[in-house]
Amino acid sequence: MYEKLFEPVTINKMVVPNRLVFEPMGNYYAELDGKASKRDCDFYAARGAGGCGLVITEVCSVNRIHGRGDARNLLIDTDEAIPSFAEMAKATQATGAKFAVEIYHPGCQGVPPLCEDGMTVSPSGQPTKLTNAPTRALTHDEVLGIIDDFIQAGIRVWKSGADAVELHCAHGYLLCQFLSPYTNHRDDEFGGSLENRAEIVRRIIEGIRQGTSPDYPIIVRLSADEYLRMIGIDDGITLDMAVEYCKLFEQWGADAIDVSAGNYETMNWAWEPVGFDEGWKSVNGKTIAAAVDIPVIACSVVRHPETAMDLVDGGVAMVGSARQFFADPDWGNKVREGTEKLIRPCISCMRCIESLMAAHEDPFSPMVCSVNPEAGRECDLAPLEQDGCGRTVVVVGSGPAGLEAARVLGLRGFKVVVLEKADEVGGQLVFAAKPPKKWRLDWLIRYYEAALADLPVEIRCGVEATAEVVQAENPVALIWAAGSVPVKPGSIPGLDNPLVLTPPEAIMANPPLTGKNVVVVGSGMTGIEVAEMLSSEQDCHVDLYEMVDEIGPGIFFQNLIDIMGRLGATDTTLNPGHKLLKVEGNVATFEKADGEQVEASFDCLVLSLGMRPTAAPDWAGELGIPVVVAGDSQKVGRIQEAVTGGYDAARSVK
Ligand SMILES: Cc1cc2nc3c(=O)[nH]c(=O)nc-3n(C[C@H](O)[C@H](O)[C@H](O)COP(=O)(O)O)c2cc1C
Repeated sequence: MYEKLFEPVTINKMVVPNRLVFEPMGNYYAELDGKASKRDCDFYAARGAGGCGLVITEVCSVNRIHGRGDARNLLIDTDEAIPSFAEMAKATQATGAKFAVEIYHPGCQGVPPLCEDGMTVSPSGQPTKLTNAPTRALTHDEVLGIIDDFIQAGIRVWKSGADAVELHCAHGYLLCQFLSPYTNHRDDEFGGSLENRAEIVRRIIEGIRQGTSPDYPIIVRLSADEYLRMIGIDDGITLDMAVEYCKLFEQWGADAIDVSAGNYETMNWAWEPVGFDEGWKSVNGKTIAAAVDIPVIACSVVRHPETAMDLVDGGVAMVGSARQFFADPDWGNKVREGTEKLIRPCISCMRCIESLMAAHEDPFSPMVCSVNPEAGRECDLAPLEQDGCGRTVVVVGSGPAGLEAARVLGLRGFKVVVLEKADEVGGQLVFAAKPPKKWRLDWLIRYYEAALADLPVEIRCGVEATAEVVQAENPVALIWAAGSVPVKPGSIPGLDNPLVLTPPEAIMANPPLTGKNVVVVGSGMTGIEVAEMLSSEQDCHVDLYEMVDEIGPGIFFQNLIDIMGRLGATDTTLNPGHKLLKVEGNVATFEKADGEQVEASFDCLVLSLGMRPTAAPDWAGELGIPVVVAGDSQKVGRIQEAVTGGYDAARSVK
């Protein structure tokens, strides 16, 4: 059905075994000196082994003086880097995949403390509004120097034995800043006309070609559209302009184009939160594919093989994803084998990029995936042992922690009994999947159902875990993953009121709350999602209250921008700086920072003040078997903590 995805593709003389590309994904797993680590080698090799025909590295900096993206991003600016890059290349090539290295300079999107003089560099000294990092315009000589940095880096990539080099001209980094009329206001030969803005790329392509071989594949990645008009800026790169650029790149000797989008100011169009549907930007790849004769790689929130097929049917030679292959490196093998139901879906939760950015604060804080507990830990985790031997383990709770624990135990050959007190599987995922744009969480439940179906795992819904029920199974271990319950602070009078609902109660209300005046208290992600769902889908008028001075405290900025854009289209009022004092009847009283008290009346009030763990009961400790507490029961967290907690708990069972 999807055979076409597994046809070989030729880029220059490189024959890539299939059409699937692991797109560059900054992971910052490098050594502190910028050399590739064992973690890098195993990370990329896993994506090759899992079925990606072409694996491309993260951004590798060509200049450590003002070009590092992070203290632990790969550096390819000296010959000393070559051996460790050779190790990475060999590890991936051993899987049968081809291996490419992406070379880049961040320009004004760099990190000032990592720049020698605390200043980033850019074509014209215009900072990016996302970080406002101080930046200065490159002199003409410096531009020539950077061209040479790129050429030398490209030659090093070739010498390392990597199969191809990718030139990063996307996402608002330095070469993109030259291409974009928004950031390039130079009046030398590197600015002005479209050809002049691309001149830097021409010289780099031609220099790498001269320094390597006529056969060496050079791929150019660009933002086919910066989508700056979406934020009111008219002079960014557009698709029409990108088509012209790609024709020039082809003419100058590029062997393939890798189509992406956005820059730091339009980051949500580059790596998209839930508001963007699968396949939404396929038009970019298809349009460029129609305009050039070299292979085009394109990403477009590809999660399912149908979306990949649509791109290929539209003329795109190769289909790329970073996040889906991070979430499930075996995507390709599963699709080829017809077991695509077993794909762990990327849920676009942005935890990867959020955790990546945390590395700026702590270089050893790892990039993680919400749904794949092995992501980035490939080199730490031995293969699962088949040592369950039919022994029974009881898992209490079928949220993400319980389901993941059951999966791993099942794979180890344990007989697993999952006790779920609700009538359906999924725990909080069931409610969390209901608000607008959150259907991907339902994919996750379906994934677990499929993954557990072929394992010795029995799920009993509607069963409360008691000592008797557990003992009847004679288990060798108990995993307590019973989740958490909404917080109702006893200190606030009046919350035991039938008009006061928890988020799950509001989401699942039957009949729905249609047309009601709703006060939502608490603007964490759950509170905002409830507000969005009630206002946009149930015609409620919602007043959202938050104790601190900002709406959405602690929410990752990309997710906040995404949901607030949609919430802004409703008539929801936002009331930060309001502390809930009490509820009486259908009136809530809030206190503002200046001590003023205000009242809000409602038909119902949704209290979204977080969750507290459902601790393991005393009887669990008296069973005489190991009890492992996982997920929210251990510490309230997000899906990533639950899934990884479940995974680790299951691995810890002896
Ligand atoms: C955490 C993260 C890191 C990324 N790092 C890079 C990078 O180093 N170089 C690059 O060209 N693109 C990078 N991207 C963009 C991806 O390659 C890809 O274009 C984007 O994630 C959209 O595709 P996807 O939804 O299939 O992941 C990154 C994206 C994410 C989420």
